[in-house]
Amino acid sequence: MLAVEAVGHKITTVEGLNNAPIQKSFVENWGFQCGYCTSGFLMVCHALAQHYPDADDYIIEEWLQSNLCRCTSYAEIKEAVSKGLTMVGGK
Ligand code: FES
Repeated sequence: MLAVEAVGHKITTVEGLNNAPIQKSFVENWGFQCGYCTSGFLMVCHALAQHYPDADDYIIEEWLQSNLCRCTSYAEIKEAVSKGLTMVGGK
């Protein structure tokens, strides 16, 4: 989106997710490697947790399709998301 479209809206960056459950889950479950893609995954997975705290595997996989990671398998990322959802009271 264009920055001008965000005027008047609250913006959260990855720095705003410091100590968020999804961030902790990525660290604890090895959901990252080089970190190039991690910021994007954290942002989209944080949004997923807010919208669908009870997301099943299908929904998680659907949301993960918007980001690409070349370093790790998606198994660790999916596990991090699944456990992160548990940490926020979902599932
Ligand atoms: S951790 Fe390296 S591209 Fe995802």
